[in-house]
Amino acid sequence: MKTKLILRHPISTLSNQVLFPAGTLMTEEALDGVIDSNTAYPYPSAPLLSYGTVKEDCLNFLSAPPYRTVFSAKGQIDDLLQVMENVSLSMPILQSLDYFKKYDFHTYSHVLTVFALSTLLAKDLIPDHQECIRLSATGPTHDIGKICVPLPILKKTTPLTRAEHSFIEHHAAAGYVLLSYYSKRTEHLGSKVALDHHERRDRSGYPRAVPLDDPMVEIVAVSDIYDALIKPRPYRSGPYDNRTALEEITEMAEQNKIGWDVLRVLIAHNRESKPDYREIRISAEKRGTPPSYNVHGMIAEEEADPKD
Ligand SMILES: [Fe+2]
Ligand SMILES: [Fe+2]
Repeated sequence: MKTKLILRHPISTLSNQVLFPAGTLMTEEALDGVIDSNTAYPYPSAPLLSYGTVKEDCLNFLSAPPYRTVFSAKGQIDDLLQVMENVSLSMPILQSLDYFKKYDFHTYSHVLTVFALSTLLAKDLIPDHQECIRLSATGPTHDIGKICVPLPILKKTTPLTRAEHSFIEHHAAAGYVLLSYYSKRTEHLGSKVALDHHERRDRSGYPRAVPLDDPMVEIVAVSDIYDALIKPRPYRSGPYDNRTALEEITEMAEQNKIGWDVLRVLIAHNRESKPDYREIRISAEKRGTPPSYNVHGMIAEEEADPKD
């Protein structure tokens, strides 16, 4: 990674080991130093789907609407499991799932459905089976940096302050550092996806505002957006209905924030007839109704300093 990043918040492991304090200018050299300091590597690892109740939970999430339709093609789940069962993760990463399951169930459910959905989209867009497995392993780790965001901020139901927003955005860089540290490598697809899954093609994303130009990162990015829209979230009254969610993502393609092919694959799997994504025609018409209460992206007035 060539770009330097200023880390506005600390990056710590689940066992409270500080890898970078707040205010660090993260350079390649600084990250290499942190990676070198990892004496616990290599960690034991295990297949993700055999870990605890992960497989059962994942299949339960996929059986609820709209995923029930998305994954309804004959033999689809069995085909997917053939890829997903090849994904093994190291112990500290598996333990981050335990943390989310216990303290932030939205994130737990989200990372598992993004795991399945990104694998589904990758199977259509990335013909190479090994590449698919490589991509599939990045879904469950894309938000691992959220272990560095205080839970009251992750679960807040009213608009975030600017400071709280910057904490939320911190999860991308934090995920990059944590995954680089645990794998003892910086050139690793999982850490790239963690860093770049909120970037957009038109450079309107974060943390670096670089173009979203990697097909594997884009697949996770679109799976991430779709899942965030169609599941309940603390900051709005309810989930988007499926039609409105797909229209929101279509609007992002119209604004060149994401690419058309990955959107077509998502829409193709949403249709009962499961057409080939290359035959999908996307309507420009928008008829959906977003949830009535949604403070996502709003900035709250900062609280007045009592000394003023
Ligand atoms: Fe994220
Ligand atoms: Fe996410």
